[in-house]
Amino acid sequence: MSKNSEPRFWQKAQQHLIRYGGSFEPLIIERAEGSFVYDADSRPILDFTSGQMSSILGHGHPEILEVIAEHARTLDHLFSGMLSRPVVDLASKLAELAPGALERSMLLSTGAEANEAAIKMAKLATGNYEVVSFAQSWHGMTSAAASATYSAGRRGYGPSAVGSFAIPAPYPYRPRFERDGVCDWQRELDDSFHLLDRQSNGSLAAFIAEPILSSGGLIDLPLGYLSGLKEKCRERGMLLIIDEAQTGVGRTGLMFACERDGVEPDFLTLSKTLGAGIPLSAVVTTAAIEELCHERGFLFYTTHVSDPLPAAVGLKVLEIVERDGLVQRAASSGARLERGLRELQGRFDCIGDIRGRGLLLGVEIVKDRQSKEPAAPLGSAISRRCMELGLSMNIVQLPSLGGVFRIAPPLTVSDREIDLGLDLLAKAIGDSVRRSS
Ligand SMILES: Cc1ncc(COP(=O)(O)O)c(C=O)c1O
Repeated sequence: MSKNSEPRFWQKAQQHLIRYGGSFEPLIIERAEGSFVYDADSRPILDFTSGQMSSILGHGHPEILEVIAEHARTLDHLFSGMLSRPVVDLASKLAELAPGALERSMLLSTGAEANEAAIKMAKLATGNYEVVSFAQSWHGMTSAAASATYSAGRRGYGPSAVGSFAIPAPYPYRPRFERDGVCDWQRELDDSFHLLDRQSNGSLAAFIAEPILSSGGLIDLPLGYLSGLKEKCRERGMLLIIDEAQTGVGRTGLMFACERDGVEPDFLTLSKTLGAGIPLSAVVTTAAIEELCHERGFLFYTTHVSDPLPAAVGLKVLEIVERDGLVQRAASSGARLERGLRELQGRFDCIGDIRGRGLLLGVEIVKDRQSKEPAAPLGSAISRRCMELGLSMNIVQLPSLGGVFRIAPPLTVSDREIDLGLDLLAKAIGDSVRRSS
């Protein structure tokens, strides 16, 4: 019998865990190292989701271990009103790396928290309260972040924050507006803001956007859209928050995805990838916005704000990413992965679309390329087969699109591991298509 089926483990899990979404993999994960996690039978599983889209340095990076061990021994957690060197150093480093005039940071633990703080600051700075995001967005599970999350989880909890609005993200594979056969994102943007202006009470505070909407189906905002969005915000006195939880710190082949568009947001929020698996997030904003919020009594006093241990990890993550050329590596490994996926598309008619940037790629599974009809059961079958074969791939299933695999291996992934992932995926698709026909 597989050690993954240990009855006592599953009985305790069933009896004592709150289920927080989806179902658990029927595996007991015992350890993780590099690009792999290992189950109770010591079976290696290639981690093409970087844990929860976070472990950009793979698992158990020796230098991160050293930082954690040293800080656990010497400087771990402090009274929230105390400062330490790692916090000030990480804030300075973020100011050096972040686009434009973004130079003041607050260090927190999770992505939702960082977005919560950015939204609160935007409200305080503008004196307004309306917050807009995309209909396919995911910004987190706390109150303001959840109110700005439309891809899932809205039902059953009573009213969201008053003044929450959504507009559709431009979706080039299934465009609402087309010109000469391509997505007319300008018309999409104009149409969305026309509708928004009709609904707003005149209190627009902020727009919060992911440069690539990950949980919404790996929808890559077309080049130019983000600048257009920034202009719409400027015209209305709204602040632009760019949430780079998944795209930040090299993942897309640039340090931050918004650099591609040359857009300087009013707030940049970072999380998952910044701590590379350790809970660490940051809100980065301009001195002018920070001064204004401070004057107006900004309060965001949390237990783990400005904690030295995660800040030291974040500093080391940035040092390794820069020193080892991992931004460029994301671009070249991403190109290799994309080439392999396009070859698979040539073999399998159920691969409708391949999109994304660097090492954040999406593969949309459809019934066939002609009809583009969503094929949720096939997508789920491929995902299950991948796991059986030793490849962890995450598929998002949303009603309006086919299942979309979000492929995001660690930036340290080797060419051999990429090729292995492609081989396993090819086998999983082949087996699943055969079984379904
Ligand atoms: C783009 C984005 N923002 C924010 C979050 C929330 O981060 P956390 O789960 O760390 O609160 C997520 C989580 O998936 C995310 O994908």
